[in-house]
Amino acid sequence: MKIIRSIKDWKNIRVNNSMRNKTIGFVPTMGALHKGHIELVNKSLKQNDITVVSIFVNPTQFNNKEDLQSYPVTIKSDIEILTEMNVNYLFLPKYKDLYPDDFKYKIIETDFSKMLCGRFRPGHFDGVLTVVMKLFNIIKPDRAYFGEKDYQQLELIRGMVRSFFMDIKIVSVPTVRDKDGLALSSRNLRLSAIQRQLAPRFPEILKSDLPIKHIKSKLAREGFKVEYVEQIGNRRFAAVYLGKVRLIDNVKI
Ligand code: PAJ
Repeated sequence: MKIIRSIKDWKNIRVNNSMRNKTIGFVPTMGALHKGHIELVNKSLKQNDITVVSIFVNPTQFNNKEDLQSYPVTIKSDIEILTEMNVNYLFLPKYKDLYPDDFKYKIIETDFSKMLCGRFRPGHFDGVLTVVMKLFNIIKPDRAYFGEKDYQQLELIRGMVRSFFMDIKIVSVPTVRDKDGLALSSRNLRLSAIQRQLAPRFPEILKSDLPIKHIKSKLAREGFKVEYVEQIGNRRFAAVYLGKVRLIDNVKI
């Protein structure tokens, strides 16, 4: 696996003859890799000649400073995992390279991005869409891989690609869960042992037959601080806190 730290280095590789007629799959991440990320990478490896993974903890999508500062970084083991999987390229950009304008230019969606997580994390999806647009323009992949775990993000990226006629196929991957049902997430690393034990009650209660109102009260009774639980069409979305750790999930009903 080749590690690329500058946009210029990637551009040199991208225009090289050896890339001609090869399909490129791209998996953007913020690192602290787990089996959810790995599933995305595996799908890309299967469907493309070349797979590029990026790791960049994107500050513009964090509306909360403490959340950004405590975001887990496990770069050494991330590199080991990706090397072992035979990923071709790992892109590790720096803020000043990705944001030469210091985030003066943004991609803003005005409707769905203001609901669900967007209602409680103002500006979050502006940061996500902007960084994904930048990464797409740099990597120029044929396919890009996103998890259903962040369903709203996935839908907004599909919408951006449609709206701006971007020639990239967005491929989705179902949520990967631990044996006890908890959706894998880099933030799970920050749960205490007791919180981790309680956490699987979140998806369990979310997918139960109860009406939304009762789901909220049951979660609260069991020790979760509920941010929102909402149903849109046949999908139920929720965000809760266990202590300072925010967990999100969505299930098809
Ligand atoms: P991150 O949280 O690192 O997630 C990277 C990708 O992995 C996303 O597409 C996410 O939906 C997927 N993913 C995470 N946990 C998953 C799970 N349990 N099952 C399946 N897929 C899972 O999402 C981001 O980073 C950022 O917002 C990013 C798109 C990289 C932009 O900064």
